[in-house]
Amino acid sequence: MSDVKKPDLDSLEACVSEAARLVSAAAKEGSQVLVLAHFDTDGLASAGILGTALSRLDGLMHIRAVDGLDEDVLSHAPLDAADLVVFADMGSGMLEPLNSKVGKKALILDHHQPVGMPKEKFVHVNPHMFGFDGAREVSGAGMAYLVARAMDTRNTDLSALGVVGALGDMQDRGEERSLHGLNSIIAEDGVKAGCLKLDKDLVLYGRETRPIHRALAYTSNPFLPGLSGHEDQCLALVASARISVKQDERWRTLADLSDEEKRDLLSAIIQAVSSKGIAGKVALSLIGTVYTLPKEERGMPTRDAREFSSLLNACGRMNRQGLAVSICLGERGSIMDEGQEVLAEYRKTIAQHMSWVTETPDRVEELGAIYVVHGEGAIDENMTGSISTILVSSGIFDPVKAVLVLATTSEGDLKISARGTEQLVISGVNLGKILQELTSRYGGSGGGHDIAAGGSIPADSEKGFLKELDSEISRVLGERS
Ligand code: C5P
Ligand code: C5P
Ligand code: ZN
Repeated sequence: MSDVKKPDLDSLEACVSEAARLVSAAAKEGSQVLVLAHFDTDGLASAGILGTALSRLDGLMHIRAVDGLDEDVLSHAPLDAADLVVFADMGSGMLEPLNSKVGKKALILDHHQPVGMPKEKFVHVNPHMFGFDGAREVSGAGMAYLVARAMDTRNTDLSALGVVGALGDMQDRGEERSLHGLNSIIAEDGVKAGCLKLDKDLVLYGRETRPIHRALAYTSNPFLPGLSGHEDQCLALVASARISVKQDERWRTLADLSDEEKRDLLSAIIQAVSSKGIAGKVALSLIGTVYTLPKEERGMPTRDAREFSSLLNACGRMNRQGLAVSICLGERGSIMDEGQEVLAEYRKTIAQHMSWVTETPDRVEELGAIYVVHGEGAIDENMTGSISTILVSSGIFDPVKAVLVLATTSEGDLKISARGTEQLVISGVNLGKILQELTSRYGGSGGGHDIAAGGSIPADSEKGFLKELDSEISRVLGERS
């Protein structure tokens, strides 16, 4: 796949220890640490892990979440006030620009495919350098967790956030939607520390907290056409499976159902989505490993790691990064009420965008090897990643083509979110590399993972860019067939 190197855990751990020493020393010396993190779930969870580890050493820090790293972001970041800059869940794709723009000590803690080499003054920790697949077996939060654990073994309680980050990056692609590789080591730490519990169950959104039909309607991974976002249809489906929705006036949740009722519910779901032309295998991905944070209050979205990750994603995408960081640093109470409101708002925005995509099929262009969703002027630039992830998981598109969602940025550029499938990756397609090369040739920037990548280019180069991207993916697919 994206890396052919043999995994070398010892060397990874040596590099992680060097990073841990750097952060611990900065905290103990009273140096000001600036944590610059990506604004998605994984980046926010990384910031929470690093922030907590630093505050346990009474370190001085400033955390800032940004929508990505480019020259503009770098020039606006308060680099001058910092003694040490930590880039979390980003940076590896921008090593050359960082070399020239960052004049102080820096730690780059990332899991994206590296581009270029860091200068000597920087400590660079990235799983790809040691033969581990950063797209599938460890996230940015996982890397931050490994560093926090090396700083102090008491930080093993932060493993739960490492798992939240990995789930936010869709790394639950092991058997029965489990985390695998380095992520499973992190999850094991969580179980040992008593902050994580693993169960096999139906992976519906809000299994302990929501009425069954609502949990089903709220599930968007996998996206269930006709059900996701449609409570009425979900209620009808639950009734058709002869499952009582209430017990003594109280709504029953998934956790209240017997095994037989769960089987009946699953059959009804499979039947409902099959009639929409969706393969049963999408519905089967509804059975899997559920990650619970038993120390979190029952009924709160932080108790289920997938819900926790959605909460962070919502806050990040709705420009409430500060709220997300507070939650990751352990604040609860009224902060959670605010978080839930943002989540509800985000759900509405996603539903509106998804309806727009399905109701305006003329804005979806199908080329030889890609689908292009022309969201310019309609899709918010912060939402392209979520929409493309939902679209590719929905199974409505041919899995041998990549999905691109486009939007216009506030600067008038073209924002691109690209998503592939495992099938494409096995066929040799590396979206991160292709986007990195192509966007820079068109005067923009981009990169990411083999299966999920993004970037931006000047809007007037769209046509040529899409044509070239399509022929490049077709060429790779042609070579392998
Ligand atoms: O920047 P970062 O790595 O955190 O973003 C990851 C993005 O890529 C997420 O939107 C996630 O949905 C997507 N992804 C994916 N499949 C993977 C890894 C990442 O869809 N295996
Ligand atoms: O923005 P989006 O969610 O589509 O990004 C997909 C992946 O590509 C993320 O992991 C993101 O960090 C990465 N990316 C990148 N460089 C960019 C834009 C996105 O590495 N310029
Ligand atoms: Zn990440």
